[in-house]
Amino acid sequence: MFLKNAWYVAAWSDEIVNELQQVKVLGEKICMFRNSDDEVIAMEDACPHRKLPLSKGRIKGDNVECGYHGLTFDCAGQCVWAPGGGRIPSAARVRPYPVHEKYGLIWIWMGNAAIADVEDIIDIPNFDSPDWGINRGAAMELNCNYLLMCDNLLDPTHVAWVHQSSFAAPATKDTPLRVTKTDAGIIVHRWMMDHEPAPFYKKVVEFEGNCDRLQHYEVRYPSHALIRAVFTPAGTGGVDGTLHKNTFVMDSYNFMTPTTENETRYYWFQLRNIRPDDAELSAMMSKDVRDAFEEDRAVLDQVQIGMQEKTSPHIDLGIDAGQLRFRRQLEAMIAEEAMVDAKMSQ
Ligand code: FES
Ligand SMILES: [Fe+2]
Repeated sequence: MFLKNAWYVAAWSDEIVNELQQVKVLGEKICMFRNSDDEVIAMEDACPHRKLPLSKGRIKGDNVECGYHGLTFDCAGQCVWAPGGGRIPSAARVRPYPVHEKYGLIWIWMGNAAIADVEDIIDIPNFDSPDWGINRGAAMELNCNYLLMCDNLLDPTHVAWVHQSSFAAPATKDTPLRVTKTDAGIIVHRWMMDHEPAPFYKKVVEFEGNCDRLQHYEVRYPSHALIRAVFTPAGTGGVDGTLHKNTFVMDSYNFMTPTTENETRYYWFQLRNIRPDDAELSAMMSKDVRDAFEEDRAVLDQVQIGMQEKTSPHIDLGIDAGQLRFRRQLEAMIAEEAMVDAKMSQ
């Protein structure tokens, strides 16, 4: 079960061109392409006649022609031509999906189109700021349920074991976590004071000596994460700190799109408050982050199998508090949505 009334990332902008292609979101097959105005069009990828995927057909002008008998659909999914010279059957239509392009990503609304509002797409305040640099990489295909990645992104502790050559520092093992609930999701966070910066950050921070470090791990419903890392010279951080002018901030945005129950397409990029135009730094950060995310992937693919095939019960730990609250609330939202849908279809 997934939350349907939500925006999910369907693709990077440059993945969708003026050619038909199939993307999968929440187990649904969707035909996507760009029309002659460069707008992204999304519709159910199944011809209502014999269910040939429309993505196996052709673009005709701004319409989609089925590759089997030529039923032709406009961008709203309405059939505009049928073979055999007869009239167009009223059931000859496919479901269109609301889509919106923002932040170099294509967002798709998977639920009731009547309530899709692009204002609900996550706000990324520094995305277009000339003072912030960006690094990104290709989407990653994970062989696990999307909630395992949501768990991971509410779990600052795992870096001590999974990312030893990049994000780990001795304090990441045992500094207590704080959990905050917001209207949009859950934040698990902690300040770690006066220690040597972890290897990945040591290469980029613009001050010498020890640091105070914030790990802010936030996941918003249904599956969008902001992981904020703050590194500031020791003595200037903490909840009541006054951040130094050389404080390094990295906002890592992560969007997990369930493609099926046990497969996830993972989109990510980072914004940083230093050297915005330094392409070499961006490339280095993208590579290091990708390497670290491959470490997550290796663990999560195995956790998926382990949890699926377990022969003895699993346990939860205190460090799981944020993840469990997130899952409980999302489950409640999904149940509520299903109830409203059931009422509407009566
Ligand atoms: S299957 Fe599409 S027109 Fe026959
Ligand atoms: Fe990780």
